[in-house]
Amino acid sequence: MCGIVAYLGRKQAYPIVINGLRRLEYRGYDSAGVALIQEGAMRIYKCQGKVSDLEAHVGASSTAGTVGMGHTRWATHGPPNDINAHPHASNKGDLAIIHNGIIENYAAIKEELRHRGHVFKSDTDTEVLAHLIDDIRTTEEVDLAEAVRLALQSVVGAYAIVVMDRRSPDTLVAARKSSPLVIGIGDDGDHYMASDATPIVEYTRNVVYLEDGEIAVIDRDKGLTIRNIKNQSKTPFIQELEMHLEALEKGGYDHFMLKEIHEQPRSIRDSLRGRLNVAKGEVVLGGIKDHEQKLINARRILILGCGTSWHAGLVGEYLFEDLARIPVEVEYASEFRYRNPIVNEDDIVIAISQSGETADTMAAIELAKGRGATIFGICNVVGSSIARVTHAGSYTHAGPEIGVASTKAFTAQVTVLTLMALMIGQRKGTIASSAFHRMLNELDSIPDKVQRVLGTEEEVKRIARIYKDATNALYLGRGYCFPVALEGALKLKEISYIHAEGYPAAEMKHGPIALIDEEMPVIVIATKGASYEKVVSNVQEVKARKGKIIAIVTEGDRVVRELADHSIEIPETADPLVPLLSVVPLQLLSYHIAVMRGCNVDQPRNLAKSVTVE
Ligand code: G6P
Repeated sequence: MCGIVAYLGRKQAYPIVINGLRRLEYRGYDSAGVALIQEGAMRIYKCQGKVSDLEAHVGASSTAGTVGMGHTRWATHGPPNDINAHPHASNKGDLAIIHNGIIENYAAIKEELRHRGHVFKSDTDTEVLAHLIDDIRTTEEVDLAEAVRLALQSVVGAYAIVVMDRRSPDTLVAARKSSPLVIGIGDDGDHYMASDATPIVEYTRNVVYLEDGEIAVIDRDKGLTIRNIKNQSKTPFIQELEMHLEALEKGGYDHFMLKEIHEQPRSIRDSLRGRLNVAKGEVVLGGIKDHEQKLINARRILILGCGTSWHAGLVGEYLFEDLARIPVEVEYASEFRYRNPIVNEDDIVIAISQSGETADTMAAIELAKGRGATIFGICNVVGSSIARVTHAGSYTHAGPEIGVASTKAFTAQVTVLTLMALMIGQRKGTIASSAFHRMLNELDSIPDKVQRVLGTEEEVKRIARIYKDATNALYLGRGYCFPVALEGALKLKEISYIHAEGYPAAEMKHGPIALIDEEMPVIVIATKGASYEKVVSNVQEVKARKGKIIAIVTEGDRVVRELADHSIEIPETADPLVPLLSVVPLQLLSYHIAVMRGCNVDQPRNLAKSVTVE
């Protein structure tokens, strides 16, 4: 939800800012803009569209300057157009701001400033903050950092901001509350700021994650200083980034999404590394070791997440109930937080988030924490806000996921949940020793099996060509594969804009069956396992209504193969692990359909990857 980037140092700022915006474009791509200070003057270029449109807009204009900042927007207040694009300037244009988040009380502040003669150009909440800071700076005669601090005292909402002022050309001021901000410390006074570390990693590995309520000042001579909103000074905690630059490139693939689908054998292996020890017959999750007993004794587990992470949570429900015999409730974080939910001190909450920044998940965690629950996090982004507010957790180690549609993060989340359920099940004795060892062996072979599933891509492509013009699609699954049906439908609708719904196969009779005719592709996960026979009956029901059946089947299956119009085979595995295999052809199917329809796969319309607004 909006990406921000800024630079102050010896180099030219513009190429660094543009490069950074390209890396952050996954956070929003409604409009883009940059601000530079050139010989004491503020220069702002901004326009509707993507970073490439901004570059065209800047054209041959002067971009000189060693201090600058940029923004890529996911619109909240005001439509995506040139005027609402960031940066936003103060009345006289001396001061400019970029912002990720929402100023909730902007209307009241705007009204007051209007009475004081301020004239606003845009519909945004952000512009109000530019005017407010400038107003305080001039009326109270304080420096820029102090003006920012005083202004933020009257702000309600979420923000990561960077402020520049042509009257202080050697200073950048940044602040955060609820939205992320990372500061990179380079050599010889070069400083970088960004919503995440991706724009920074190619220049420096030394970073400081700004905490909520902190204000960072970068001064060309004095370097970085941090204070909080109460004006207490803070010592910057410098950490070393583990991220690698290659992980941020497409590596020869046409899209990040395709690269990330193909990375899954590796990313699942990375999620298992150091945690699954087949020889010793044990599962060790280092990040939760200190709180392990709480998990083992849990009387109830609440799983919180949004989007694909919520789907992973649903798989978790089956895993924990089946293998560890613990009752589980899976909640949309956005519903949970506003529902006055019942949470007790002996509850265990597992919060799942790829980005570790989703505003609703964050708020739901705070609520559960406030009521005394123990919170475990399953996050992909190292150092992210959710990873830092939870009591303990396990990173998924899938590596940066850039395609807006989540793929490898989902399988990594399910892998970690599987490890957790197995670990608890063994310790509680709810899983027999022989079954436990079989599962460890099976889990160890999953990366190779995913590799084999990727070998079905040509067949999937052939099917995609037949159904690319469909207007609707139905996804059916049972048991462990019901959440996979939901995830398959989400993948298709979010990147190809085909309406798709996922259903538990048996629920089809209670409504969706009315939609089935000879035009309707029905994707059924009909792998061998506990509910195989039942799913076969559902397939028969679809066939009787002349629906077009695309079945995901177990290698060697004959029954469903004969009934279905198309089949994609996946290797046999234990029931709890089938989601890790069966989701892969569904990812590939939606990818190829979207490409054939000419859609922007990595940046689907209206979406953003990191949802830092509720
Ligand atoms: C957005 C993304 C999804 C993601 C969801 C939750 O909608 O497009 O891919 O599943 O947010 O995000 P999180 O980072 O919390 O997993």
